[in-house]
Amino acid sequence: MLSFYKLAVFFFVFYHNKKKDMSNNTTWSSHSPKTPTKMLERALSVRRSAFADSDAGDSETSAGDESKTKRQHFSLLFTNYVSRLTHSWPCLVLCLFIVVSLTASLTFHSRGLVCVSPRDPVSRLGFLGSDGLESDFGYLGVPWCRSKHGKTVEWTSKDLLKGLEEFVPIYETRPIKNNMYGMGFDHSFGLWFIARWLKPDLMIESGAFKGHSTWVLRQAMPDIHIISITPRHPEKYLKKGPAYVDGNCTYFAGKDFVDFGSIEWGSVMKKHGINDHRRVLIFFDDHQNELKRIRQALKAGFRHLVFEDNYDTGTGDHYSLRHICDQFYIRGGGHSCFRDSDEARVREKRKHFWEKAVDIEELCGPGEAWWGVRGQMRDNFNHSNTPISYAEHFQNSRLIESILDLYWELPPVAGPSLTHQTRYDPSRAPTPIVEDGRYGLFQRLGLGRLESSVFNGYTQMVYIQISEQ
Ligand SMILES: C[S@@+](CC[C@H](N)C(=O)[O-])C[C@H]1O[C@@H](n2cnc3c(N)ncnc32)[C@H](O)[C@@H]1O
Repeated sequence: MLSFYKLAVFFFVFYHNKKKDMSNNTTWSSHSPKTPTKMLERALSVRRSAFADSDAGDSETSAGDESKTKRQHFSLLFTNYVSRLTHSWPCLVLCLFIVVSLTASLTFHSRGLVCVSPRDPVSRLGFLGSDGLESDFGYLGVPWCRSKHGKTVEWTSKDLLKGLEEFVPIYETRPIKNNMYGMGFDHSFGLWFIARWLKPDLMIESGAFKGHSTWVLRQAMPDIHIISITPRHPEKYLKKGPAYVDGNCTYFAGKDFVDFGSIEWGSVMKKHGINDHRRVLIFFDDHQNELKRIRQALKAGFRHLVFEDNYDTGTGDHYSLRHICDQFYIRGGGHSCFRDSDEARVREKRKHFWEKAVDIEELCGPGEAWWGVRGQMRDNFNHSNTPISYAEHFQNSRLIESILDLYWELPPVAGPSLTHQTRYDPSRAPTPIVEDGRYGLFQRLGLGRLESSVFNGYTQMVYIQISEQ
């Protein structure tokens, strides 16, 4: 920076001296018959004649054509001005250059001076270049679960965009504005979109907290029944602030709480007139081992499941589908615990910029166990933590693959340069619905109206279809 200013000062002095030389030459040189000398002479003579006219009191000319006199006066001033500018343009260009450079420099460097987090998108850009942003999506691999026949979802990215446009105004009317510890915008949209698309006959949620997800399900399907399973009834939260209690919902909550795995689903479904369990949508946001939940759902004959927190390998408080399917044979899956590897170097760097990114130290537990969370299978908000061998972990993925018809991870709704999210690491996520740089589209969809904090909860929500057994 210092050398830049030295250079600027050098150029300024150089041009100043040069200009002095030029005017010296112009004034005193008799060898240069044209350009600067002529222009200066013309300027001087013009000034002289103007005074001369008034001095001479040539009233006939001046009074006779006043407008002409004035016009001539301005044109002369202009010529004069231009002639002076011609001498100083290198200085003007230099000044302009300095002003532009200073503004640009202050924009980036002042953030560093005021200790803005490096997770701030602008700072990230300053530190990482474009690597910190959109170009990173999927850079470290995006593991996924193979389904039996490789089936994909019916909806397209166009459907998702249309859905976003419709959902933003709905989301703006949510009763719980600050849903800390619950779903943010990305997953609220994902749940609403999936429920609306599938049009189930009944919806079950496990883990309601204050009721935000119940409200989202209700927006998607206004008339169908909901069953909500949660230890603390959402109405309890009403005493302290906003909460949502649905009028067409059966609550297994409070003294009526029964864990999903212990409910007699046959009789409960019959009670609600549901004969076909395949037409029920289940939403899990209860932070339980997902393998356990899938086995329970399978036993009860349910087919459509959504998991809110599909944590990435090395993170989270329960064994997730991402954990299970992160395997060497999956594109983007499997890890090595070598400290001297590209993955270790990239992870180390990314950890400084994304809160949820984990470096190789955090990823790998004793014996270089990278699967699950440092070789552990977590359950029940991390209250249970069981070490598993790689062989067991591998078997779990084979079991899941043998029963899966479909696996679909919700992409982030928009890139971090638009949402300003700072948590999930794009290098472990699929390409967002609204890609970085598409500011116009982001605004058109109404996403720009939302507070940036609502975009900070993305954890790869997943929708799976279990095949009929
Ligand atoms: C992250 S919160 C759910 C947030 C909610 N879905 C939302 O979007 O606002 C997790 C909830 O799961 C509940 N929970 C804990 N154990 C549970 C269990 N075994 N079955 C169902 N819910 C459980 C907790 O009490 C808590 O309300």
